[in-house]
Amino acid sequence: MTAADDKKSEELMSLCKRRGFIWPSYELYGGIAGMYDYGPLGFSLRNNIVEVWRDIYKGREGFTEIDTETVNPREVFKASGHLDKFADKITYCTKCGAPFRADHLVKEFYSNPDTMSEKDLDQAFLDHNVVCPDCGGKLGPVEDFNLMFRTNIGPGSSRVGYLRPETAQGIFVNFLNLYRYNREKLPFGVLQTGRGYRNEIAPRQGMIRMREFNMMEVELFVDPEDKTWSRFDEMKDEKLTLLPNTGDETVEMTVGEAVAKHVVANEVLGYFVGTTKQFLVRLGVDPARLRFRQHRKEEMAHYAKDCWDAEALLSYGWTEITGIADRGCWDLTRHSEFSGADLSHFKRFDTPREEEVEKVKPNRKSLGPAFKGQSKAVAAAVEQAKPEDVKDGRLTVTVDGKPVELGSEMFTVIKTKEKVNGERIIPNVIEPSHGLDRIFYTVLEHAYSHDDAKDYTVLHLKPEVAPVKLGVFPLMEKDNLDVLAKQICASVHTARAAAVYDGSGTIGKRYARMDEAGTPWCITVDYDSLSGPQKDTVTIRDRDTAAQKRIAVKDVPQILDDLLTGRRQFTDL
Ligand code: ATP
Ligand code: GLY
Repeated sequence: MTAADDKKSEELMSLCKRRGFIWPSYELYGGIAGMYDYGPLGFSLRNNIVEVWRDIYKGREGFTEIDTETVNPREVFKASGHLDKFADKITYCTKCGAPFRADHLVKEFYSNPDTMSEKDLDQAFLDHNVVCPDCGGKLGPVEDFNLMFRTNIGPGSSRVGYLRPETAQGIFVNFLNLYRYNREKLPFGVLQTGRGYRNEIAPRQGMIRMREFNMMEVELFVDPEDKTWSRFDEMKDEKLTLLPNTGDETVEMTVGEAVAKHVVANEVLGYFVGTTKQFLVRLGVDPARLRFRQHRKEEMAHYAKDCWDAEALLSYGWTEITGIADRGCWDLTRHSEFSGADLSHFKRFDTPREEEVEKVKPNRKSLGPAFKGQSKAVAAAVEQAKPEDVKDGRLTVTVDGKPVELGSEMFTVIKTKEKVNGERIIPNVIEPSHGLDRIFYTVLEHAYSHDDAKDYTVLHLKPEVAPVKLGVFPLMEKDNLDVLAKQICASVHTARAAAVYDGSGTIGKRYARMDEAGTPWCITVDYDSLSGPQKDTVTIRDRDTAAQKRIAVKDVPQILDDLLTGRRQFTDL
């Protein structure tokens, strides 16, 4: 981070605090690293980002949204692999005891320190004389540190639970409900937004690394043999900046080219990389500071077969803000194994196929003398058995709740032709996982401009996400100017089109406050609004150009709506 970058992020965080976007949590008690609260403007901006996400995934794609628990029993994360694999490398200073992320301490010496083993990191400390950044003490041995917060479910209970590190598992454990809800057809997509918790070792990058954060995740269940996407043509011309894992150079290509040249593995992944770009740019992320980087094999999360991160260039450097992963059949297979439930999809063939199948047939001549009155029941149980149940030439079946072991003379495994209507497959999952707080911060940083000479700050937020859409000012709070200003404010103010009345300070100061809050338009009521040839008109000012126009009071609601929906531009007024 350069000094200029440092200054920029400090200025932005100070603006966020001053204007009520975000506040460090528990400041009253000294604060806790990696924890932030959203103030009124920040909460609105965050909600507006979520609404754009919903508009795309629920509105355009027709996916459904659910909301699941944040405390999960241990079994969920044993099955998902998080209990065994969701860890970062930690080292403690042997002198002052401070914890550090071991890979972060050697990042200036290696290109991929997050893929190094404990032993390699211990050795790297020795090779490069790395010591405690706080006190200069010797660093202790590197270990794995699981990032999940542990708790107990119920007072005095031994039922161990964990706060979820991703919202995704809540979707996977509801697969059967969702599958039925979606009429047992693939593909279908499910959204969830909510908190994720990770006990990050050393959160030192503001909102980039939080311990309690917000996610917007989409889990898309697809047929593993069909990675085409019906609406791919609509996305194929979207331009992308890609950094594939085969080299160090970024390449510019369209989604269509990327899939055709196998840079991006398939249409589904390509479509959702393109969708992610459209989503982020619509929020105000600068396309020139946005790229998609493919994970290297050794960097991939334990559940992923392929992953593309949307990275934004921030004052912190290139930073992951969204991960788009191909999770393959990992999650559903594991939850099937651990829960015993069948989480497969019945894929019906277009036309039934004649297939050779193996079956177990009872040898009634041998069963009769051996089992007498029970032989019918044993034969029926044998008919239900599968060829893979035969172990070392013997078969064990259950009859009247009791195991019955049969020698090879009592059954035969035969091959027969059968009409088969379909097959059971485990759906694959493609997952665009958006970090809401990182996107929020990126939107702010890319919108931020500061004129050093004038010491003047503007947040060029896109109107769709700006927390306040319109500021309304009376020139002075007297002579009924304030009454008209309040009436105008009330005539447009809704949850979607928040308008704010401001009567204090000079008009210049009020514009400055609104510019810092990212409010796209302001209206001023002056004496001409009350009488004379311009009666019943007001001035509207555009934040980005500072241009002003005179408009009729009665047209204000329609004009604001037109500007917000993009039906009209400010220059057209
Ligand atoms: P990193 O490598 O930066 O720790 P990650 O690869 O662990 O991130 P993912 O597991 O892919 O992140 O999580 C999905 C998204 O959630 C990320 O793209 C990011 O935007 C967000 N995210 C992850 N961890 C945090 C965190 N500690 N604070 C804020 N956002 C986070
Ligand atoms: N669900 C994606 C992640 O947590 O990485």
